[in-house]
Order: sequence, then structure tokens, then C-alpha cells
Amino acid sequence: MIVSTTLSGLRRQIGDWKRRGQRIAFVPTMGNLHAGHLSLIDRARNHADRVVASIFVNPMQFGPDEDLERYPRTLEQDRSALQDSGCDLLYLPDETDLYPQGLDAITRVQVPGITETLEGENRPGHFDGVATVVLKLFQRVQPDVAVFGKKDYQQWRMIEKMTADLDLPIDILAGETVREADGLAMSSRNQYLDSAQRALAPRLQQQLQWVSEQLRNGRRDFDALATEAAKELRQSGFTVDYIAIRERRELSPPSANEPLVVLAAARLGNTRLIDNIEV
Ligand code: PAF
Repeated sequence: MIVSTTLSGLRRQIGDWKRRGQRIAFVPTMGNLHAGHLSLIDRARNHADRVVASIFVNPMQFGPDEDLERYPRTLEQDRSALQDSGCDLLYLPDETDLYPQGLDAITRVQVPGITETLEGENRPGHFDGVATVVLKLFQRVQPDVAVFGKKDYQQWRMIEKMTADLDLPIDILAGETVREADGLAMSSRNQYLDSAQRALAPRLQQQLQWVSEQLRNGRRDFDALATEAAKELRQSGFTVDYIAIRERRELSPPSANEPLVVLAAARLGNTRLIDNIEV
């Protein structure tokens, strides 16, 4: 696996592959890789000749009270996991390279509509930070296909929209959420949970399953259903940011019989968990 820390090194290698007519798949990450990330690398490999991954803990997408400082950084482990998974190139940009003018002076990308609800409401500025860094990484890597995890459902849908709106010639694919044996969605933030919180955490997925069953059984009182599920989670000890039943593309409140997704964000202590289920 090639490891590139410079834009010129990255461009040289990508240019070489492109001249040979090879298709490039890209998996951007913030590192601390787990089986969920590695499943995205697998999916990428099935759609291209070369797989590029990046690791960059992007300060622009963290709010002032969020976990930027303590976000786990495990470069050596990540590097060997990527090597074993058959990744061809690991790109490691740094902050001064990506944001030479600093975070406040650089152009930001804002994707309207889909970013104004759910995570967008709860984490102001978060999606602008994600869209900006992903667009910059797309410009650098020039992939034919890019893969995002469905666990960050709204992020995936936002990137699909940005890619379509800006006519980027990139296929956006999604990888299914990978779960622990008890159903908890894999996430780098799970390691912040203490043992009591970890035991409670799978209830988030169980509540989503319950809502999904109710919907499959024909319930259509979406708001009441979401309120019931949130109440149950609060009683178990979660602080609930939202549980919402939405249509799957723009994540707007559903109208008729469209395909649905149920999304939730809830905190156990200082740890914020998100999850979703397509119905
Ligand atoms: O999902 C993530 O890890 C990040 O939001 C991403 C897409 C790598 C952008 O920093």
C-alpha cells in the first residue's frame, strides 16, 4: 500500500493509474477504523481497479463543544488494517495543507434542504464542514466512485445531492451498517461508553426496530409513534436528540406510501450515538 502525505504525491499516483485506464474508488474516513470502515473498502474494491482511502480528522465538522480533541487517533493500527484489506493508497492530508488560510477564511460548501433537519439542527455547521472537506478530497483524489456508510444516513444523502448538484462525475455508493453481536452500530465513539452505558446502548437499535415493525404493521401516525419511541428511550436513560420517520431521499416528513427510514440520535452521558433503519 502506498502512503501519501502530499498532494503532489497523490496526484502523481492517481495520474499514473488514470493513464492506464484504471477506475478509482475512494473511501474517506476520520480513522480509528473498525469493521464498518473495512466493509466500505471491500465494497469499493468491487467497483474499481484501485482503492484509495483517506484519514483526516476534519476540525471543520466538529462543533465547539464536541469531541475533536479526544477523537481517537490510531494511525498505526489503521494503516495495517487498510494494508490487510487490500487498499492501494492511503492519503493522509494535514490541516495546514487542506485549510492553508485557516478554517474561517476558506470557502465553505453548503448543501441546502437536507442539511437543515435532524443532524443539521442538532449540530449547526456540521454538514458544511463535511461537504467542504469531502468536495476538497474529491477534487484531489478524482475518484470514479466513492463509498459512504449508511450509518451516517443523512451524510450519505447530502453527499449524493452535492455530487448531483455540482455535476461531479462520481458514483456515490452506500455500505450497510455493520453491527456488534448485540445490534449496536459500530462507531469510533462506542469506545467512550462505560460498561453500564455500553450495556444500554443496543436499546437504540431495538427502539428503531420496534418503530419499523409498527410501520410495517400499518401504523401511519408518524409523530405519535416517534414520540412514543423517544419516551421509551428516555425512560431507559438516554437523552434523546430526535427520533424521526422520514422519506429516504431528502429526509422530509413522509406524505404517502414512500419508502421510509427511521433515524435517531441519542446520548448516553457525553457520548452521542446515531443509528437508523430503512423500513
Ligand atoms: O464519515 C466520516 O468519517 C466523515 O464525516 C468524513 C466523510 C470522512 C468527512 O470528514
